[in-house]
Amino acid sequence: MEVFAINQTLTNLCRAHTELSTRDILQLNNIASTLQMYADVSNAYTFIDCKVKNTQHAIVVAEAFPTKMGHIYEKSVVGKIVFDTFEPGVFYSFQTGRKSLIRRAVTQEGKSVEQSVVPIKNEDDEVIGVLIQEKEVDAAANDAKLHPNASIGQHSIEYIIGDRNSELPIVSDLLMEIFLLTDEDDRLIYTNLVGTRFITEMSGEEEIQNQNLVKLLPFLKPVFEQEDSFVFDLALEKKSLVVKKIRLRKKDKMKGTLLIIQDVTELRMKEKELKMKSVVIQEIHHRVKNNLQTVASLLRLQMRKGVPAEIRPYFVDTLSRIYSISSVYELILSNENADDDAVDLIELTERICSSVVGNSPHEKVHLIIQSNGNKIITISRKAVSIALMVNELVQNAAKHAFPEGGKGRIIVEFILNKDILELHIFDNGVGMKGPKPSLGLEIVQNLAVNDLNGEFYYVPEKKGTHAVITFPVDPEVLIYHEQEDIDS
Ligand SMILES: Nc1ncnc2c1ncn2[C@@H]1O[C@H](COP(=O)(O)OP(=O)(O)OP(=O)(O)O)[C@@H](O)[C@H]1O
Ligand SMILES: [Mg+2]
Repeated sequence: MEVFAINQTLTNLCRAHTELSTRDILQLNNIASTLQMYADVSNAYTFIDCKVKNTQHAIVVAEAFPTKMGHIYEKSVVGKIVFDTFEPGVFYSFQTGRKSLIRRAVTQEGKSVEQSVVPIKNEDDEVIGVLIQEKEVDAAANDAKLHPNASIGQHSIEYIIGDRNSELPIVSDLLMEIFLLTDEDDRLIYTNLVGTRFITEMSGEEEIQNQNLVKLLPFLKPVFEQEDSFVFDLALEKKSLVVKKIRLRKKDKMKGTLLIIQDVTELRMKEKELKMKSVVIQEIHHRVKNNLQTVASLLRLQMRKGVPAEIRPYFVDTLSRIYSISSVYELILSNENADDDAVDLIELTERICSSVVGNSPHEKVHLIIQSNGNKIITISRKAVSIALMVNELVQNAAKHAFPEGGKGRIIVEFILNKDILELHIFDNGVGMKGPKPSLGLEIVQNLAVNDLNGEFYYVPEKKGTHAVITFPVDPEVLIYHEQEDIDS
């Protein structure tokens, strides 16, 4: 192969997004090195697209604008993904290995262009990319030139269904929609590629041209019978179709019918699956919540049957832990979208704290929750950990900080520090005197480190206790900024 400068961008894009071999990439490099010349000689924007691996899309890997010409694109499109629905010509060439010319293709930038596409093949005759040239066209002038006497309606149809004898791909053959054109006696006079496939599959007939379409496909009968409708939803045994009907008239006389059919079977199936999934997920959340409530009532029952006084507190602690987990599921179930696995942390904290303080013997304890304008949403798994930690720490404050009773204050505050979320729990009580960690603090320590990838520590204060939990904000934790704080 001859020596040329390696186009690093092209090489990197091909390596990252395509399945091309080093040899193929070298060949593309070779062509890319002459792209500027092609662009200049034809005075057209010229570029190379390659197929992105494992998808139906292509990617622009090299381009050249004609020198000294204002080009039709605002900016370079190298590295951009090209979608098959926007660029049928490109995908036609990829699929068939044939050249294509499409007039008035509309690019992703919304411009009208004339686009010609040639496949680039390697030594094994595989299409490794396509070379594309695009010129902006004055659509109106072009049409007038092509069809000087044609009325707009007439040549639009010709444009859609094209000229059967043409070498070039017909636009309708590149579309996913089924086109069926019938004459005044409902006989099929034209259909595109997918249409032919559709009719043979549905009717079992090979000979379809000039056959009565309703006889071939009896399910289309209502479409032909109903005069005033335009769009039909047809649910067949195995297929879901959306049928659009256009009546063609000439001087008030019926000239035939154009049907455009979209096969939405897959779409409808996906919709159904999603609906099923969301029902199932909602049901699971319900069951989890109900099971937790059953466990809680079993414990309560046991307590009522009588447990030794010294064991009672353990039952109470456990009940409160169970309650904090079930709060998470209550919140999820109250979501508008029940399969939305999202829990509002501030709301959760309010729920847990009011239950802890409500159950505490110190009626006077004043609880303040400061969100600092943060609305924090997390997935349920994280919410369960946070619920348990808040429960333990607020419970500790309510239980140990104010042994004498009196006017106590517990503050739970959420502070966002760059991408670290800090959860502070203060009380103005007696303070911790050489704590001997029991199960409560062990739970907090464990969850903070192992579940949230964070830390748990105490900050020394002159009065009271100040516990801090910090953990990184990741894609599973969303933070919005709100206007006002929520106090309670
Ligand atoms: N806010 C607080 N104020 C004063 N002392 C506290 C505070 N929080 C914890 N302590 C002390 O630390 C000890 C350990 O707390 P920890 O939560 O691990 O155990 P616990 O509350 O006694 O029992 P449990 O395992 O049921 O939570 C407590 O027994 C208590 O003496
Ligand atoms: Mg405790």
